Formats: sequence, C-alpha cells, structure tokens
Amino acid sequence: MTEVPYQTRPDREPAMATAGVCVLFIVLCATFAEEVKLKYKRATKPVRLFTEEELKRYDGTQEEQPIYMAVKGVVFDVTKGKEFYGKDAPYNALVGKDSTRAVAKMSLDPADLTSDTSGLTDEQLESLDSIFEDTYKTKYPIVGYTASRILNEDGSPNEDFKPEDQPQFQIKDEF
Ligand code: HEM
Repeated sequence: MTEVPYQTRPDREPAMATAGVCVLFIVLCATFAEEVKLKYKRATKPVRLFTEEELKRYDGTQEEQPIYMAVKGVVFDVTKGKEFYGKDAPYNALVGKDSTRAVAKMSLDPADLTSDTSGLTDEQLESLDSIFEDTYKTKYPIVGYTASRILNEDGSPNEDFKPEDQPQFQIKDEF
C-alpha cells in the first residue's frame, strides 16, 4: 500500500484549517486589544510653561511647595532630592530657576546660575548632557518647560524649538 504524503493526507486538513483559524483569531484579538488600548489611553498630564517668576516660587524656601529646577529648559520636580535642594541644603542655589550653566560647569557661582550656555567647552556640554540624561531625566519627573525655551524675549515663537525633540514627548500628545 502506498503511503499518502503527510501534507496531503485528507484527515490532516481539517486540523490544519482549525489551527489557521485559531492563529487568525489570536492575531485579530491582539490587534483589537491594541486598538482599545490606544483609544482609551489615559491622557498624559498637561505640559506647563513656566516663566522665570513662576519658577522662582518653587525654590525650596516654602515647606509646603514642591521644589522645581530647570536644566536645558526642562522643568523637573526635584522635591524628592530635598537633601540636595531644600532650604539650607548644599545645592539650594540651583533651584527655582534654570541652572543649565551651573550644572554644565559644576559651579555654584551666582554668575553661572543661568540657562546661558554660550562659551561652554565641549567637555562641559558633554557633562551637561550626561547629568541631564542620567541624573535629572532618570531620577525626577518632568513638570514642564521654561517659557524662554519656547518663546523669544519679545514673545515670538522660538524657531529652533522642536516639540518632537523634547524628552518624554510622544507624537500623539498635545503640546
Ligand atoms: C567639593 C565639591 C563637591 C562634592 C564633594 C560633591 C558631592 C556630591 C555627592 C556625594 C553627590 C550625591 C551623589 C548621589 O548620592 O547620588 C552629589 C550630587 C550632585 N552634585 Fe555635587 N559635590 C560637589 C560639588 C558640586 C558642585 C559645585 C555642583 C554644582 C552644580 C554640584 C552639583 C551636583 C548635582 C547637580 C548633583 C546631583 C544631585 C541629584 O541627584 O539630584 N556638586 N555631589
């Protein structure tokens, strides 16, 4: 008696068809679940813009207020680092403002407590980026951006600002 090849044996066909339907069903379920997840994705917290005056309110001097600090125009809630940034703590001078230059230079000189990065060396800029990524972005939640990062002094839009380059920005978020 000649053996019917495995693939063409008639008794295998219904089983294979059932398996095919199952796979299709699983794929459809996964796709549908993804759709539902996207549709019902919780709205992310609105992004807030801070003027210099607003940021100053969160300088750690008032116990009940959170402590905010900006690096590269990104405002972080550094309250959980109170031992560094709170009232009378060693890095309190850095908070309530954008201290990009001070972080880049590892300096607490009042002249460096600014967002101005002009004249910084490549090494300082690299150090700034690594502290920004490895300390601030990893450790502290982002609560907003400084107005000066987005607007020029005269209130016109800063053409160099790219929302898609912002940390934690997702293309579906409203900015
Ligand atoms: C003698 C000088 C200094 C010593 C011995 C020192 C020591 C330290 C130590 C032990 C930490 C904590 C690391 C950790 O636990 O995660 C730290 C963090 C830090 N230091 Fe200094 N530091 C000095 C000077 C400075 C200066 C001048 C600046 C100026 C910007 C600075 C900025 C920072 C920042 C931004 C952090 C990260 C704090 C955080 O995790 O939020 N340090 N430093």
